[in-house]
Amino acid sequence: MTLAAKAAMAGAVSTNDSAANRPAKRFHVKSFGCQMNVYDSERMGDLLSAEGMTAVDSAEAADVVVLNTCHIREKAAEKLYSDIGRLRRPRADGSRPTIVAAGCVAQAEGAEIAARAPDVDVIVGPLAYHRLPQLLEQARQQRAIDIDMPPVPKFDALPARRIRQASAFLTVQEGCDKFCTFCVVPYTRGPETSRPAADLLREAEGLVARGVKEITLLGQNVNAYHGGLNLAGLIRALAAIDGLERIRYTTSHPRDMDDDLIAAHAEVEKLMPYLHLPVQSGSSRILKAMNRAHTRESYLATLARLRAARPDIALSGDFIVGFPGETEADFEATLRIVAEVGYAAAFSFKYSIRPGTPAATMADQVPEDVKEERLARLQAEIARQSLAFNQASIGRRCTVLLERPGRKPGQLIGKTPWLQSAVVSLPGAAIGDLVAVEIVGAMPNSVDTIPLSPSESAAA
Ligand code: 5AD
Ligand code: SF4
Repeated sequence: MTLAAKAAMAGAVSTNDSAANRPAKRFHVKSFGCQMNVYDSERMGDLLSAEGMTAVDSAEAADVVVLNTCHIREKAAEKLYSDIGRLRRPRADGSRPTIVAAGCVAQAEGAEIAARAPDVDVIVGPLAYHRLPQLLEQARQQRAIDIDMPPVPKFDALPARRIRQASAFLTVQEGCDKFCTFCVVPYTRGPETSRPAADLLREAEGLVARGVKEITLLGQNVNAYHGGLNLAGLIRALAAIDGLERIRYTTSHPRDMDDDLIAAHAEVEKLMPYLHLPVQSGSSRILKAMNRAHTRESYLATLARLRAARPDIALSGDFIVGFPGETEADFEATLRIVAEVGYAAAFSFKYSIRPGTPAATMADQVPEDVKEERLARLQAEIARQSLAFNQASIGRRCTVLLERPGRKPGQLIGKTPWLQSAVVSLPGAAIGDLVAVEIVGAMPNSVDTIPLSPSESAAA
C-alpha cells in the first residue's frame, strides 16, 4: 500500500502545523521494550544522526521525539498515549515536537493510533524504520504511516553503526513462527527471517575493527537462525575473528536447542557460559496450552545436555504466571523448576491478555489478585536462586568487560562471563577493558571482585 493510501485509510489527509513544518535538528528516541527494541532505537538514532541531526537526552529538548513502543504485554498502548499527551502540549515558545510512534504497538495498532492521536506525525513499524528520514520529510506536509513488512531487508538500507561501547548487539534474525498462544510477536514482527551469514561476518569484523570486544547476537528466535549457516556455524565463524573476545546470543527457544549448538558451548571458548532459555511454566499441561512444543521434562533434558557440554553454564529464563487455567498445582510446578534449575537470573510476568492471540479468549482466566500473589512468590524464589548463584561463584577467577562507572569513585562496573554485574576497583582500568579478577563477594544483583596480578591472570 502506498503511503498516501495508508494515510487516507487512517483518515490522515489534513496537513498539520506542528514543528513538523520547521527543519528538525535535535531528536530523542525513547525505548519501551526488549533488547531488540533497544537495538532498533539505536539504529533509528544512527539513521537520524546520519541525516545531520543531533541526539539529545530529553524529549523536552528535542524537535523530533521517537517513541519506540513494545507490545508484548498490555499497558504499552496506554504508555504511548500518555507520552503523546504530554508531548503535544505546547512548550513555552509555542512549539511542539514532531512525534513519531514506532515499534510493535505502531505495527499492531497503527490505524488506531492514527485515529486516536491526531498529533502523531509519523507511524512506523519495526520492519520499516529504515525509511524514517523520508517519513519525517513527508510529515512536513501530512502524517506519514509505514507499517509494511517489506521483503527487502531494512538492514541493507541502514547507515554504518555508531559504536557506543565495547559490547555491541548484532541482530541476526527477526520474527517468529512459533505462535505461542499468549504472544503477539508473530503478528507484530512477522515470520522468521535470517540475515545472510556473510553480511553478519562483515558487520562483525567492522565492529571489532572499531573496538568492539563482545557481540551479542540478537533475534526473537535466535537459535532458529538459518542464514546460510546455522547459529552454531555462525558462532564458530565469528569466533575466528581476531580481537573479538566474547560471543553471546539471545533469545532462544528450547525447541531449537540442537546438538550442534550445544556442542558449540563445549568447543568455542569465546562463547560465554550463559544462556537465556525461557521455559515460561514448569507445568507440562500449561506448556501444552501455551503451544510451547516442549514439556517440563524435555526442557530439563535439554539443560542436562547443556550442562554436560559446559558444566559452569549459567541459565536464565522467562516465566508467565496466571496463564488461563493455571492451578495452584501448576504454579507450584513452576516454583519447583526454578529451584531445580537454579537460575542465575530470570524475568517473570503476570499473564497479560493480548487481543487477537488464542489465549485471550481461553476459559478460566486467572483473577488479578491470584496472579499478583503468584508473581510475588515466584519473584522471591528467583531472587533466592540468583543470590545463591552469586554466592556459589565466590572464589571463581574470570574476566570482566568494563561497561560503566560505579557508584563510588575509582569503581567500574562490568560483566562476568556469567553475565553478573561485577564491581571492579583497578587503578588505570578504563571502560572497554577486559580485566582479570577473582569474585570475592556476592550481593543479590551483583558480585564484588578483586583484580588479579598479571601473573595470576596468566594462570587464571
Ligand atoms: N503476557 C505476559 N508475558 C508475556 N510474554 C510474552 N507475551 C506475554 C503475555 N501475553 C513474556 C514471555 C516472553 C517475554 C519476552 O515476555 O515470558 O518470553
Ligand atoms: Fe513469542 Fe513464543 Fe515466538 Fe517467543 S517463541 S516470540 S514467546 S511466539
